[in-house]
Amino acid sequence: MRNSGNPPPLHVLLSFALAFAEAATFSPAAASQRSPIRQLVKARVIPDVINLFVPSAKLEVKYSAIRVVNGLLIPPSAAAKTPSVRIHSRRRSPVDLYTLIVADPDAPSPSNSTLREILHWLVVNIPRGNVTRGEELVPYVGPAPPIGVHRYVFSLFRQKKPLKGVKVPTGRALFRTRRFAADNRLGLPVAALYFNSTKETTA
Ligand SMILES: *[C@@H]1O[C@H](CO)[C@@H](O)[C@H](O)[C@H]1NC(C)=O
Ligand SMILES: *[C@@H]1O[C@H](CO)[C@@H](O)[C@H](O)[C@H]1NC(C)=O
Ligand SMILES: *[C@@H]1O[C@H](CO)[C@@H](O)[C@H](O)[C@H]1NC(C)=O
Repeated sequence: MRNSGNPPPLHVLLSFALAFAEAATFSPAAASQRSPIRQLVKARVIPDVINLFVPSAKLEVKYSAIRVVNGLLIPPSAAAKTPSVRIHSRRRSPVDLYTLIVADPDAPSPSNSTLREILHWLVVNIPRGNVTRGEELVPYVGPAPPIGVHRYVFSLFRQKKPLKGVKVPTGRALFRTRRFAADNRLGLPVAALYFNSTKETTA
């Protein structure tokens, strides 16, 4: 048997991983959303906030009439109130509970993100469906980006068990989505979505 010499270069492996992640995207609606994983990589949500993952659920986020799609620019005033969030998933797990994290990795500014991440919302033990049925650990606050265009990242995790006695963050700054997921054994995300926002100029 022949042994092929050198291992494939990293960019080949990455594009393979991307293709796999995209192919595994379960719903036609998500597929038509022009490869969400690629958009998350392009905007560096992966790896700034979360690791590469295979989508197996879908997040539907609405600020009244505005439906969030990756990269959409939403003024802070339009995202001030808690959005409605629905979780769609075909995969049934014995523990059908989710954790939703919304965080801004670009604080105080995208070029100097020394406060990365600002936690904007944290809800655990969400049954599939409507996020309002989950347990809110940190209430929603809307974007208030002082400088530059900030990304607001919604990361959804499928829990392996109900979460109890979660260490609730005392402040919003210097939060890490990845670390929270690791501390609570959430594994990789199953869905993610981001929008952009920037300070509104008056008149
Ligand atoms: C949103 O932010 C990302 C990351 O900085 C950028 O790639 C994308 O072009 C932005 N989209 C808009 C509409 O500003
Ligand atoms: C980056 O932001 C911090 C505050 O978080 C500030 O003290 C520092 O001067 C800033 N650095 C630059 C290069 O703007
Ligand atoms: C979610 O549930 C809340 C309260 O039960 C309800 O007000 C809201 O309209 C629901 N949202 C969606 C998108 O179904």
